[in-house]
Amino acid sequence: MRILLFSGKGGVGKTSVAAATGVRLARLGYKTLVMSVDPAHSLGDSFDLENTLFHGATADPVEVRPNLWIFEINIQREVKRHWNDIASYITAVMRTTGLSGVEAEELAIFPGMEELSAMMYVNQYRREKTFDIILLDCAPTAESLRFVSLPTTLDWYMKHLFNFERKLIKAVRPVFNKLSPVEAPTDAYFENISGLFGKIQGIDQVLQDPETTSVRLVTNAEKMVVRETQRAFVYFSLYGLTVDRVIVNRVLPAEVNDPFFAGSRDSQRRILGEIESYFAPVPVSTVPLLNHEVVGAEGLDEFSERLYPGNEDPSVVTRTERPYSFAKVEDHHEVRLQMPFAAKGEIGLFKKGDELVVEIGTLRRHVGLPSSMSALTPVKAKLEEGVLVVEMRSVA
Ligand SMILES: Nc1ncnc2c1ncn2[C@@H]1O[C@H](COP(=O)(O)OP(=O)(O)O)[C@@H](O)[C@H]1O
Ligand SMILES: [Mg+2]
Repeated sequence: MRILLFSGKGGVGKTSVAAATGVRLARLGYKTLVMSVDPAHSLGDSFDLENTLFHGATADPVEVRPNLWIFEINIQREVKRHWNDIASYITAVMRTTGLSGVEAEELAIFPGMEELSAMMYVNQYRREKTFDIILLDCAPTAESLRFVSLPTTLDWYMKHLFNFERKLIKAVRPVFNKLSPVEAPTDAYFENISGLFGKIQGIDQVLQDPETTSVRLVTNAEKMVVRETQRAFVYFSLYGLTVDRVIVNRVLPAEVNDPFFAGSRDSQRRILGEIESYFAPVPVSTVPLLNHEVVGAEGLDEFSERLYPGNEDPSVVTRTERPYSFAKVEDHHEVRLQMPFAAKGEIGLFKKGDELVVEIGTLRRHVGLPSSMSALTPVKAKLEEGVLVVEMRSVA
């Protein structure tokens, strides 16, 4: 089973690329699902489906051609289906200043229900082997990260807060209910949370396994877009996901020789060269700017031909190197994190319990250390050719 995630800045062509990839895979005989995780869904539009046929008509994947299903998650329905109790409780908590004694800051990062629903479906389809390949048409970069950071966040929440909070609530419920503007959660809430956790259990390993999950970054040959692509690369690596291809969309075709575009073409050529050297050894592919939109069956067939010429199979695994590794080196241990494009000043690092916490900008990742390293302390960190090397030693 393969999971391919398409991410990138708004408007670069993620939905078109995801849909065309689905079209190719289905033709190659894979049972394929394209799922939209972007709340501003446009997947149905990309296949040019009638709104009345598609939107809101079904809560499940819709077959659009042989071997190909598409699915736009309707969050309102999901909340009604599964999450009412939890959502209303969390909202109540968020509205107040938080539970005293519980780390409110950590509660506040409780992930979005939307991403959670998508994640649950992916996990369910994976367990039930419903599809050979799931393609995720993600929201623009920042929200895609919320999606991939979710299992770690939830796992962290369960490990660190759940048991503690549950015990705490049992002990203080009578007092708590008198003092607090929100009711202490009931046992049903805890059961719901447990059930929910069960539904995404194991998905973090799946997302971090490069043989199963790959991120494809869609970009354009424009300076600002490329910067965002580089940041996205860092962030996905931070969450342990492997980027195995960069797709540069809307490249001016050679036959456009109007002097008006001469400047754009020069700058595109330069930026393309930069993209290739920045991201190497990650393969970079290009798709030309077409003189029409990419919609409907024919449009997507044509686009998939441009994207994957010569019947290329887009599900092939090309990179298996994980963004994280742990190693014993001579007299100490090392955590190595692929961090191309990250600058020295941006990276924060500290140890909390048996985890290493890495911060880049406003993003934070708790990296669970293997038991052989959990008692060690980070003593030194250096950024070496795009790899953050953290030296871990036992400090008496
Ligand atoms: N190579 C291309 N040539 C011409 N139009 C394109 C190309 N790629 C995408 N488009 C069009 O650009 C618009 C935005 O693309 P879309 O795939 O929805 O981007 P995103 O999902 O990243 O927001 C759509 O109307 C799509 O048909
Ligand atoms: Mg889109």
